[in-house]
Amino acid sequence: MVIGAGRMQRIWAFLLVLLFPVLQAQQITVNEKVTGTLGQQVTLPCTFTSNGVDMQVTQIMWIKDSINIATYSPQFGIHIQNTNDFNLTANPSSATLLIKSLRASDEGNYICEVTTFPGGNRRDTTYLSVKADPKNSAEAIPVVAGDIEVPVAKCASVNGRPPSQITWRSTLPGNFATTINNNTDGTYTVVSIYKLVPTWTADKQEVTCAISYDSKESPIPVTLSVQYSPIVAIEGYDNNWYLKRTGASLTCSAHGNPQPTSYTWKTADGSPLPNSVKARDNVLYVEEVDERVNTTIVCEVTNALGSRASQQEVLVRDKPNTSGAGATGGIIGGIIAAIVGIAVIATVIMICRQQRKNQTAEDDDLEGPPAYKPPPPSVKMQEEKFPQIQGEEMLPLKAPLEHTDTMEDPDMTPPKYWSPTGSQDTATLEDDYLEQINPIYSELSIPQSGSHREDQGFMMSPAVYV
Ligand SMILES: *[C@@H]1O[C@H](CO)[C@@H](O)[C@H](O)[C@H]1NC(C)=O
Ligand SMILES: *[C@@H]1O[C@H](CO)[C@@H](O)[C@H](O)[C@H]1NC(C)=O
Ligand SMILES: *[C@@H]1O[C@H](CO)[C@@H](O)[C@H](O)[C@H]1NC(C)=O
Ligand SMILES: *[C@@H]1O[C@H](CO)[C@@H](O)[C@H](O)[C@H]1NC(C)=O
Repeated sequence: MVIGAGRMQRIWAFLLVLLFPVLQAQQITVNEKVTGTLGQQVTLPCTFTSNGVDMQVTQIMWIKDSINIATYSPQFGIHIQNTNDFNLTANPSSATLLIKSLRASDEGNYICEVTTFPGGNRRDTTYLSVKADPKNSAEAIPVVAGDIEVPVAKCASVNGRPPSQITWRSTLPGNFATTINNNTDGTYTVVSIYKLVPTWTADKQEVTCAISYDSKESPIPVTLSVQYSPIVAIEGYDNNWYLKRTGASLTCSAHGNPQPTSYTWKTADGSPLPNSVKARDNVLYVEEVDERVNTTIVCEVTNALGSRASQQEVLVRDKPNTSGAGATGGIIGGIIAAIVGIAVIATVIMICRQQRKNQTAEDDDLEGPPAYKPPPPSVKMQEEKFPQIQGEEMLPLKAPLEHTDTMEDPDMTPPKYWSPTGSQDTATLEDDYLEQINPIYSELSIPQSGSHREDQGFMMSPAVYV
């Protein structure tokens, strides 16, 4: 017994030495890194384990920057340097430091130091980082069109910690400049300004401010606002205004930011518009063309920013110019004819398909013998014996098709492949037959991989052209 116990002790001691790094007699455990949010509380735990070895904890202390923040002693209790900001929950095997409302200055290394008797001091460190979620925003800066680069959009990420990163995505040729402000509370305000030469084409274009914070990207789209006086164009002159032509008109198409408010029609030489002309907003109607319209017509458009005009020289001819119209008419006529042709063909195909479908449906309903030559007896037997595979076999589905062909074309000679011996490869025979009646079929023929129903619909088309 005594020998046995002594032996056990030696083995145990040997094992302890062997496993020393794992089974340390005393061990401090802290988090390596803790992240807290500005203004919120955070706890830093520290635990001490002595693995049954006879060891007395005499003190646990939290230290930052060489200052004792909080101390626990089993004998004297808890002492906290600054009870407004810190608290400590402790017992001989743990001491958890509470920081009540995080400030940026709280960031740093926190040392948990455990003093034991007779072991001495052991310490471990937690790094506390303080973050603050920023408020992000982006907006356009309304500008007036010009040829000098100006700020057109602003993007801000306010009171973040660590500072956000801002970039811009845009198809427009612009630049941006970003500034970072160090706020007194340890947060950062990042502001980025997007600049470009504000041409009117940039109006209503979108640029995107991309804010990166905490390895997440928040894109904020911004629609630019560039104000410009109206851009004006006169449309509707076909260079074929002739005397007595009726119903001619000019349209003044204009856009601006802000929206155009008025359209003014006049002649370039300042003479009044002839009576035969009626201006209504952006359209100028010419009831009947006469010599007085033989002038340069001006449309002036105004918005809050200013006015701009466009002019159209009108040449009044004695006679209509039919050559130009003829050529154009010919092309348009050709296009129309082509469209009508396609439409007719498509309609015919659709109608025939529909008829075929209806016909097939009727046939399916029919119980009595069909009006065509009945299939060979062997086929009939198959049908009765294995009704469940009818849908899978080609014959029952091919039969109605053959039937309808005959019905629709009574003059047609009966298809020669209806031999009483029955055809094993109906599809091939059918192909041959269709090829015979219409050579186009071979051109149009598709592999027999399609479903039977597709075949039915498809094979209708050759019949249409017959
Ligand atoms: C500090 O913590 C202890 C134990 O958790 C608690 O009893 C005490 O009220 C706290 N003190 C303050 C000022 O929060
Ligand atoms: C602002 O903070 C950054 C990062 O902490 C630092 O490098 C920089 O010097 C600070 N700037 C000013 C003006 O305090
Ligand atoms: C219109 O003016 C042009 C010259 O600008 C002239 O050649 C043409 O004959 C005029 N048309 C009529 C119908 O007076
Ligand atoms: C008539 O119109 C055609 C095509 O627009 C043009 O080429 C031709 O010069 C015109 N004829 C006259 C007399 O203006």
